[in-house]
Amino acid sequence: MAETNLIDALNRALSLELGAVIQYMQHSFLVTGIEREVYRKYFRSQGEESQEHAITLGDKIVALGGVPTVEPAMIRQSTELIEMLRQDLEMEREALAAYMTAWEACGDTELPTRFQLEERIYQEKLHVEELEKLTSERKANVTKERITLKQIG
Ligand SMILES: [Fe+2]
Repeated sequence: MAETNLIDALNRALSLELGAVIQYMQHSFLVTGIEREVYRKYFRSQGEESQEHAITLGDKIVALGGVPTVEPAMIRQSTELIEMLRQDLEMEREALAAYMTAWEACGDTELPTRFQLEERIYQEKLHVEELEKLTSERKANVTKERITLKQIG
């Protein structure tokens, strides 16, 4: 039974990675203006990473006796860069949550898969943090830092 839960959780993650491949590709097509020079490459490289993640998930699901999903998660699109980044942040957060669920489903019997997922969870968390910075949801507390520097000086 634990294995069924794990396969379901891995398939949820796979669905999100397949969605991310398409969403990032679409964002790379849609981004225009001066930011295109940087973000076309950014979206394509993110999409390539999602594809690698999808491949390892599909291989793992079959190794566990399951059938990999062919249905991507919901894809969001926009013509505004900041909105695209918010959409990508949302998808990365969902992927992180899916990986956490899969990690929990490993229990004590699927330790190698659990260790594999720990590396992935770490990578997904970095993506979430970067997108939080790109959307300015996450910022350094500069005001506090200035006060500290003043006190030192
Ligand atoms: Fe990923």
